[in-house]
Amino acid sequence: MYSRGLPLALLILMFSNTSENCISRLHITAVEGEPFYLKYCRSSSESENEKNTRWYYQSPGSLDQIALNPSSSPRLAFHDYALEFWPVELDDSGSYFLKMGNDTHEWKLNVIRRNKHSCFTEKQVNTRNVEVKKRLMITCEKMYYGRLINRTSLYKKQNCEQIEIKGNTFEKNAEFEDQGYYTCVLSLHYNGKLFNITKTFNVTIAGDYNNIIPVLLGAKFNQTEVELGENVQLNCSALLNKDDTVYWNFRKENETDDNVHEDPETKIKTSEGKWLASRILRIEDINENNLNFPYNCTVASKGGTDVRVFILVRKNNVDIPGHIFTRGMIIAVLILVAVVCIVIVCAIYRVDLALFYRHLIGRDETLTDGKTYDAFVSYLKECRPENFEEHTFAVEILPRVLEKHFGYKLCIFERDVMPGGAVVDEVHSLIEKSRRLIIVLSKSYMSNEVRYELESGLHEALVERKIKIILIEFTPVTDFMSLPQSLELLKSHRVLKWKADKSLSYNSRFWKNLRYLMPAKTIKPGRDESEVLPALSQT
Ligand SMILES: *[C@@H]1O[C@H](CO)[C@@H](O)[C@H](O)[C@H]1NC(C)=O
Ligand SMILES: *[C@@H]1O[C@H](CO)[C@@H](O)[C@H](O)[C@H]1NC(C)=O
Ligand SMILES: *[C@@H]1O[C@H](CO)[C@@H](O)[C@H](O)[C@H]1NC(C)=O
Ligand SMILES: *[C@@H]1O[C@H](CO)[C@@H](O)[C@H](O)[C@H]1NC(C)=O
Ligand SMILES: *[C@@H]1O[C@H](CO)[C@@H](O)[C@H](O)[C@H]1NC(C)=O
Ligand SMILES: *[C@@H]1O[C@H](CO)[C@@H](O)[C@H](O)[C@H]1NC(C)=O
Ligand SMILES: *[C@@H]1O[C@H](CO)[C@@H](O)[C@H](O)[C@H]1NC(C)=O
Ligand SMILES: *[C@@H]1O[C@H](CO)[C@@H](O)[C@H](O)[C@H]1NC(C)=O
Repeated sequence: MYSRGLPLALLILMFSNTSENCISRLHITAVEGEPFYLKYCRSSSESENEKNTRWYYQSPGSLDQIALNPSSSPRLAFHDYALEFWPVELDDSGSYFLKMGNDTHEWKLNVIRRNKHSCFTEKQVNTRNVEVKKRLMITCEKMYYGRLINRTSLYKKQNCEQIEIKGNTFEKNAEFEDQGYYTCVLSLHYNGKLFNITKTFNVTIAGDYNNIIPVLLGAKFNQTEVELGENVQLNCSALLNKDDTVYWNFRKENETDDNVHEDPETKIKTSEGKWLASRILRIEDINENNLNFPYNCTVASKGGTDVRVFILVRKNNVDIPGHIFTRGMIIAVLILVAVVCIVIVCAIYRVDLALFYRHLIGRDETLTDGKTYDAFVSYLKECRPENFEEHTFAVEILPRVLEKHFGYKLCIFERDVMPGGAVVDEVHSLIEKSRRLIIVLSKSYMSNEVRYELESGLHEALVERKIKIILIEFTPVTDFMSLPQSLELLKSHRVLKWKADKSLSYNSRFWKNLRYLMPAKTIKPGRDESEVLPALSQT
């Protein structure tokens, strides 16, 4: 190593000696009013023959090369393969040639205007990128002028404030706020005049994502409300270094939670070049054991660790206070019960309510229909011992209650039809004059004698729709076969059952239902004040 290292070091030393601070770039920029120089980079093999060097200048847009010599301009000086400007001015822009023997070296110089309002010229900056926390070092030097430099000062662009420097070097640990432009001003005396040379650095402070202290995102303590049986995903994310890891501490001592699972870590590089890692902890079918236990998410790195604690708590389901909720429920239930009761009562006492309503508004359907009778009573005319009760009911009880007590007008064949004459025609016309047809039904009702009454009434009721039929089952009728089929079309509520013992009172259901089915009529005060009918003769 030494045998090869030594000549190399020697070569560098020689090279730097011979062409120290030389400029080999073709395009060069200078700022007006500052000292400036062009120096040829001589190779060590070239023989020293400075006397043979000649400088030429070619102004932009011109083809002529002008030879330069010390008498060309008082601002020019020639030194050791170098052409010096004291100082350089705007009209010095152009091409410069150094000719040595057959060799020619060319520079293209561009002199830019000084920014009068700033302490530096933005077109002439050196870029300096520094990572945060790393060493930021700015050295204000211009080797070529060396010992000529009398004073060195450093300014930072923000208001061009001056910064204290030691010697010619500014040094610190980089912070983000150190970013900006730094301008060195080197003052030097030449031929009794003071000149300033500026050198500007554009310092950019970059974040270092290769070695950050990892941080978990979100609050350090997370309390999540859950319900038992629910599934929950806890998402733990961190900004970290490439090799750092995020993991969950979820195992309890001497206990296994089969419903807690840790997903693999996912790591992505964000657009800013940072690493973002996430790890999900899945808790399925949450039970009591999962509540109030700290599920810790940890990110670990060389720089340290960060922990985030997740705790599951039971959700408070009822948003409104408990007692208000209970009261509200009770009131709602009570209202519901009340409504149901009212509906039931209405259904049961439908007939009573309808009668009460009729009474209340004093409705009378019978005034304008031009009919004479409220009801035609059809019953078995023959009075035999086996149907004596039925006969009594039709000719005595019905008229007594309906006519005397409730003010209806009935048409009863035996009473209201004169014997003789055309019975059939008469019955038909009487039925036509009646609003209802009351059929007192019994086992022996279906005889030839009443059949035409029935048929005439049914015709009126079903075809003409002028009369309504009320069926009173005086004795239970099992065999309806003998009745015309059309009778079965009657609605069941139009069939009333006579119950000898229960139906006696005027207030009994039987009479109420019958009155309900009878046309509405303003009731005249009953002449029979007795509330109970005299019991039927049992003979
Ligand atoms: C320089 O040019 C001369 C003639 O003009 C020639 O004799 C000589 O060899 C050249 N030297 C080099 C190094 O090319
Ligand atoms: C530096 O400048 C001061 C005054 O500006 C002068 O007195 C001093 O001699 C100068 N030093 C050098 C080394 O030129
Ligand atoms: C040179 O810079 C100094 C401050 O460093 C300033 O006071 C002086 O005016 C400048 N001179 C010229 C010629 O720019
Ligand atoms: C200075 O550096 C910043 C960041 O790299 C860049 O955006 C800006 O253009 C540079 N300024 C100059 C004058 O070059
Ligand atoms: C707590 O964690 C849950 C589950 O990852 C999330 O939905 C919620 O936003 C977090 N709450 C806070 C305050 O960070
Ligand atoms: C977890 O959170 C991170 C950061 O907020 C997000 O990028 C990622 O998509 C989330 N993962 C899931 C599964 O929600
Ligand atoms: C866990 O088990 C070990 C022995 O297996 C026992 O010494 C320790 O007390 C147990 N811890 C708890 C919290 O039950
Ligand atoms: C979780 O973290 C808290 C606070 O950092 C700590 O008190 C607790 O012991 C940790 N629990 C587990 C299981 O690591």
